[in-house]
Amino acid sequence: MTSTHNRVAVLHGVNFDVLERRDPEIYGGLSLGELETRIQRAARGLGLEAIFFQTNSEGEFAEYLHRAPELADSIVINAGAWTHYSRAIADALELTGLPAVEVHLSDVDSRQDWRRVSVFDGLVLAKVSGKGADGYDEALAALARQLGVSDPG
Ligand code: DQA
Repeated sequence: MTSTHNRVAVLHGVNFDVLERRDPEIYGGLSLGELETRIQRAARGLGLEAIFFQTNSEGEFAEYLHRAPELADSIVINAGAWTHYSRAIADALELTGLPAVEVHLSDVDSRQDWRRVSVFDGLVLAKVSGKGADGYDEALAALARQLGVSDPG
């Protein structure tokens, strides 16, 4: 039987639409489409089904989070620079009531001081940072465990 409690919304915030144009030394050089394809493959391998959303508009990001409980059972969030200052996005994430993991491609703790701050502190199950695209695999595995979804393979 297919689990109906296996949906993960993978959310990317500001500047991820141009991921392939950002410094490949820091962000790995993938496009968002390539990253999402990789994430969907990893999700299915864990028995999860990923849905994707990206916007450069903070308001749209908050509105998506408002709808998230109808669309998904869990959240992977990479809010880009909003991570470091948007209490509005933190409030919207909290409002979902869904288990969430924060991911960053780069190692936010070894860059500028302002990147060490995360508005999601205390709201997420885990923060995965500095592992590039592999970080999403770790986030998905944590959510699969939390949802009690078992590996189909
Ligand atoms: C990022 C890290 C943020 O500090 C930065 O503003 C981003 C990307 C990451 O994935 O490494 O836009 O979230």
